[in-house]
Amino acid sequence: MSDAASLVEQLESLAREAVDALESAADSESIEAIRIRFLGRKEGRISGVLRGLGGLDPADRPQVGAAANRVKGQLEARLDERLEALAGAADQESAPDLTLPGRGSWEGGRHPVTRVMDEIWDVFRAMGFSRARGPEAETEWYNFQALNTPLDHPAADEQDTLYLEDSVLLRSHTSPVQIRTLEQHEPPIRILAPGWVYRRDTYDATHTPAFLQVEGLVVDEGITFVDFKATLAEFARRMWGAGTRIRLRPSFFPFTEPSAEVDVKRVITRDDGSTHETDWIEIMGAGMVDPAVLDAAGVDSERYTGFAFGMGPGRIAMVKYGVDDLRTFFENDVRFLQQFVPGGTR
Ligand code: PHE
Repeated sequence: MSDAASLVEQLESLAREAVDALESAADSESIEAIRIRFLGRKEGRISGVLRGLGGLDPADRPQVGAAANRVKGQLEARLDERLEALAGAADQESAPDLTLPGRGSWEGGRHPVTRVMDEIWDVFRAMGFSRARGPEAETEWYNFQALNTPLDHPAADEQDTLYLEDSVLLRSHTSPVQIRTLEQHEPPIRILAPGWVYRRDTYDATHTPAFLQVEGLVVDEGITFVDFKATLAEFARRMWGAGTRIRLRPSFFPFTEPSAEVDVKRVITRDDGSTHETDWIEIMGAGMVDPAVLDAAGVDSERYTGFAFGMGPGRIAMVKYGVDDLRTFFENDVRFLQQFVPGGTR
């Protein structure tokens, strides 16, 4: 065999070896490694064989050169083909899987307690009430004494109230806003004051140490018990429907006289059109403003009278949505909250 023929044979067998190696190359790095091992300019085995070209008879060189170019060209083509096939497979892996279920668009909504608070506000605003606010860190004077509640009253006990420092505490109800409003504004007064209140309560199904309240206060000349009862009855009808009734149960609060717990009885219409009445449900504490409260706030109790009420939208939301554990409103599990977004469960 001539030197030329044996060189061509060597080239072809090297090319076969490279193609065999390519069979088991699983990624682009091993393909590149094969390219360098066989075709690399310095260390490449095919390049090594071609270095022997110089020792050939010049007449044989073109034949071997042509064979070398063919072998190299074919090997390059196989290497590129293999690289492309790998890239195509990778593309398919990252392409969207059209058989997966779609992701629904996210729709937020107001928290159920906020929703109830807004409904309460809408009803009273339509009846001419303004919004009022007061601080959550309150003094004993506003939280108790000005509200005709002596400090030896059980409610003022450190056991029940969260004191921040001497005579400063986290308000235990929104009633201090009554005093702050009466100090700053001349009657006629019609305000609604929502806000957080704090009590040393255990965290259970019906109590949380912080909760929302809404205070209402009406003070003017000639306000009577009739105004009081009619306003609350109208609130209940607008809130829960025309058939709703209220009941006043005698009660006691130091800052109202007389005082009452207000219960509502609702008419529920079933899907088939038939109706039934609910049990009486307690929704708020209320009463006629005690003249001592007007006096403490510097309002003439001979000239003015009024009524006040306080309720917890959290409790009302429990009744409204049939929730039996107040804590679910605080845990903020979106799967729970989503139920209250109109058209929301998805
Ligand atoms: N402040 C009372 C409470 O927290 C509720 C109330 C407000 C009662 C206004 C009468 C008048 O229980």
